[in-house]
Amino acid sequence: MIVFASRTGNVRSVVSKLGVESIEISEGLLLDESYLLITYTDGLGDVPEKVTRFLEQNKEFCKGVVVSGNSNFGHTVFGGAGEKIAATYDVPLVRKLDLRGYQADYDAIQMFYEMRVLG
Ligand SMILES: Cc1cc2nc3c(=O)[nH]c(=O)nc-3n(C[C@H](O)[C@H](O)[C@H](O)COP(=O)(O)O)c2cc1C
Repeated sequence: MIVFASRTGNVRSVVSKLGVESIEISEGLLLDESYLLITYTDGLGDVPEKVTRFLEQNKEFCKGVVVSGNSNFGHTVFGGAGEKIAATYDVPLVRKLDLRGYQADYDAIQMFYEMRVLG
């Protein structure tokens, strides 16, 4: 399962290219299976609030995080949400995407998904 948050459509587009079962974060979502989290970055390198609320209720099943950001924000905050989630919940930061990313990103995400989420 891929769980995602998308505000302006970039993450949604990435998820659609992966061809994997997915669900968008909504208030009160509770999961009972392993998942890969894909989120955008908000503020100045911040985790979107709805993602934080989701993780607080579902952290035990999170196997890794993929983050989308915009490298124009500068390297200190680019994709900062992914770094914070990886550190706080002790999960791997699988990939940092600039906006919608590239084919090489999708290949790496799919490989991680098969080995560490399904596997
Ligand atoms: C208000 C706002 C703040 C943002 N802050 C950051 C940031 O600190 N670091 C970063 O890498 N990207 C930042 N972004 C860029 C988004 O994370 C990026 O465009 C992402 O691809 C959006 O994904 P989405 O289209 O699925 O919502 C920000 C975007 C907005 C609108």
